[in-house]
Amino acid sequence: MTLLEVEDLSIGYHTRKGFRRAVEGVSFSLGAGRSLGFVGESGCGKTTLGMGLMRLLPPNALITKGRVTFEGTDLLDLLEEEMRGVRWKKISMIFQAAMNALNPVHRVADQIAEAIMAHSHSLQKIEATQKVEALFQLVGIPKNRMRDYPHQYSGGMKQRAIIAMALACRPKLIIADEPTTALDVIVQDQILEETRNLQKEFGVAIIFISHDIAIVADVCHDIGIMYAGQLVEYGPRTEVFDHPVHPYTQALLASYPALTGPKSRLKPIPGEMPNLINPPEGCRFCDRCPRATAACRREAPVWAAVGPEHHALCAKCR
Ligand SMILES: Nc1ncnc2c1ncn2[C@@H]1O[C@H](COP(=O)(O)OP(=O)(O)O)[C@@H](O)[C@H]1O
Ligand SMILES: [Mg+2]
Repeated sequence: MTLLEVEDLSIGYHTRKGFRRAVEGVSFSLGAGRSLGFVGESGCGKTTLGMGLMRLLPPNALITKGRVTFEGTDLLDLLEEEMRGVRWKKISMIFQAAMNALNPVHRVADQIAEAIMAHSHSLQKIEATQKVEALFQLVGIPKNRMRDYPHQYSGGMKQRAIIAMALACRPKLIIADEPTTALDVIVQDQILEETRNLQKEFGVAIIFISHDIAIVADVCHDIGIMYAGQLVEYGPRTEVFDHPVHPYTQALLASYPALTGPKSRLKPIPGEMPNLINPPEGCRFCDRCPRATAACRREAPVWAAVGPEHHALCAKCR
């Protein structure tokens, strides 16, 4: 069953230099209980997309077109007041660098209890604290750490607490923006493993946002590759990793150490992302693409099926 359907979503920012088209024509759908990973280099629009889905964009941002249908309702049509009923209760978000946002002068458990109470007004402090205790158990924080302050927690424990907060209202979808980027690899692995278990247990759908393809490779059913504000490839993990069709996906995979199997030389992608204030008319990747032709520079590529559930944005892929 489709939980979230995003159609032709475009988001930009008003800046002093002009309108920056940070997300352009993004379409995808996500089934209930599935996990989806969005990958792409820094600045490609991942956070803007995540914040746009939650309608938590900064004031200079504008959603210029598209639909975000969640359980049959277009979230972009809701009043802000109605949207507040969706956030945290139905869709929650783990913000990029969220664990650094814990208030140092309050106990971690109290901060989470406060957040829970802010979203379910009928709940008393004692009930909220019991809820936090149960959530902490779920994410692997020992009960005797309930009275600790943030500085007494390791990075991994802080991140677990943030995950507990995201789970608090039993949402159907969690958007996790670079949830493990600040952690060392071992803790990263533990958190990802935990997330996978929680996801199975609760059947919650997850959108993982990461600049690191290895992270999403581990946890996601579906993969979306983003480049310069556009989704350039989307499909089941095995399709995208085993049969990448977009030259950017191919280059990205070649730039990482083999996820499994023998080590090979890394191939960095030469060049840089185009300016998003005046993006090129044709394909946005063509300046860095080894297969680009004159037509690629002239004509914008169209989003097309390359397999039953596999899509890509490249004139050469069809
Ligand atoms: N508040 C903002 N005002 C103007 N431009 C922004 C703002 N936030 C992000 N951008 C720009 O939007 C583009 C996408 O940024 P972002 O969504 O943060 O990418 P990512 O999360 O993939 O690193 C970048 O060019 C970035 O500079
Ligand atoms: Mg980001």
